[in-house]
Amino acid sequence: MLTERLKVLDLEKDSDNLNRACEILKNGGLVGIPTETVYGLAASCFDEEAVANIFKAKGRPQDNPLIVHISDMEMLEDVVSEVSEKALELAGKFWPGPLTIIMPRGEKIPKEVSAGLETVAVRMPSHPVARELIGRSRLPLAAPSANLSGSPSPITAEHVLSDLDGRIDAVIISDKSEVGVESTVVSLCCQPPKLLRPGGITVEQLREVLPDIAVDKAVLAEPEKGATVASPGMKYKHYAPKARVVLVDAGFEKFKSFVNKNAEEGVFALKFEGEEGFKVPTVLFGRRDDAASQAALLFDVLRTLDERGCKLCFARVPDLEGVGLAVYNRLIRAAAFRVIKLPKIIGLTGPTGSGKTEFSKIAESFGYTAIDCDRSARLVTEKGSKTLEILADCFGGDIILPDGSLDRKLLAKRAFSSEENTEKLNKIMLPAVVEVVEDQIAECSETGVEKILLDAPTLFESGLDSRCDSVVAVLAPKDLRRKRIIERDNLTEEQADIRLSAGKSEEFYKQKTSHIIVNSEDIERFRADINAVLCSLED
Ligand code: TXA
Ligand code: MG
Repeated sequence: MLTERLKVLDLEKDSDNLNRACEILKNGGLVGIPTETVYGLAASCFDEEAVANIFKAKGRPQDNPLIVHISDMEMLEDVVSEVSEKALELAGKFWPGPLTIIMPRGEKIPKEVSAGLETVAVRMPSHPVARELIGRSRLPLAAPSANLSGSPSPITAEHVLSDLDGRIDAVIISDKSEVGVESTVVSLCCQPPKLLRPGGITVEQLREVLPDIAVDKAVLAEPEKGATVASPGMKYKHYAPKARVVLVDAGFEKFKSFVNKNAEEGVFALKFEGEEGFKVPTVLFGRRDDAASQAALLFDVLRTLDERGCKLCFARVPDLEGVGLAVYNRLIRAAAFRVIKLPKIIGLTGPTGSGKTEFSKIAESFGYTAIDCDRSARLVTEKGSKTLEILADCFGGDIILPDGSLDRKLLAKRAFSSEENTEKLNKIMLPAVVEVVEDQIAECSETGVEKILLDAPTLFESGLDSRCDSVVAVLAPKDLRRKRIIERDNLTEEQADIRLSAGKSEEFYKQKTSHIIVNSEDIERFRADINAVLCSLED
């Protein structure tokens, strides 16, 4: 079959093409039409055979009912058997526009349209070309989205052609669909009324008319196998590109580190405007705080991934308010419900001897798994390690003891003797430590750890603070710290003073951290403070 291309950008100038589309529809043909949500595959809703052909052309399961599109309220009488007060109120407020209302099916509607249900889905699109076509032909149009069943919905005529060229009679070439996701579907045929599919009209908006509206559980979660679903469309694999999509529940910095750790051939990431620093190819997905901008791009993005040969794409879980609910609903289906929740990471820092270990102990009882960066530092300077060699080059071969291990005290003496030397030490040690810590974080994520405490005296200097959701600093008066490290590390007073003077000032931590705990010598008080901070960090 040759698919006719009918350009309609201007209702008057392109009137002939509109008439041609009307003719095709009247003769039982299928036409791809623009709407403000997505492109639809339209046929006369009264023509059983044409409706059957829609299912064939799309490869759509027979039990997934279609939406009937009307252009005025008079037409509504033709397709439903009863119009309730609430239906009138919704129509008055949101039609024409991206809202579909499920109502009792009218007698004239063949059961194929509704897949045998006693109800029918109706919407009045706002797109001028769609409305003109319905108005001119005086035909209510049954129209699902004009894609092959299972693939992303089309928001341009090119998308329609890439799926259905040669399978349908014509496509109207018009502008891009503005909303970008399919209409909101609400059922008035149940008590309380129910949101079956989120879309351009938000739950918040619907609540103004339907204060008791319920949200179908299929909106956010994967329907159980074999369960009856209020909206049959919800149970099918939907919107799926060929690429494997995985949602990641995390803030930007954590998401970026996670993606960069998984950077490989064929791996992509979706990014929001202004986000930089990915080591993999990215596709722009609107603005983070503007769900409408994400909705407008979503299906384009999914198709682009396939065009660019993406095998695995990571995307961040969007905010669920407003149109965000519709974005999430589509994205999670595109991801076949694969969501990775990255662990919460609390950074613990502060100068030496301040009492971080006490914090760590109590944090463990709150369910945190501790990653101790001092231990990681020892790991990277083990006998025979590369880092040890580099340290010896910089601070003298005698920092390596006859048995090949590191003389920590000697290294500390030299490295902490001046600011310059401390910096040299950090330059060598920190990248190596970060690498080990990143591996430990990755292992925790993979094994389902939910909360990590990253105990790192040089948290800021290493840049690991960017991996943390919050940072806590433990401070203590200098005298107390001196006493503690002399006892703990078996140091002379002189050695202790060198270490203390190499550390950052209290001001440094105060400026950079959201939570400060001051450890005086009152241990009960200190513990109570730690508990209070940990409680405040629980969600
Ligand atoms: O924005 C839209 O709604 C687009 C444009 C073309 O108007 N159309 C669209 O149609 O998305 P489709 O077929 O892809 O999705 C229709 C959804 C499906 O989830 C279907 O199960 C549900 O509406 N639906 C249709 N009739 C129903 C009914 N009687 N009861 C419950 N759900 C129904
Ligand atoms: Mg669809």
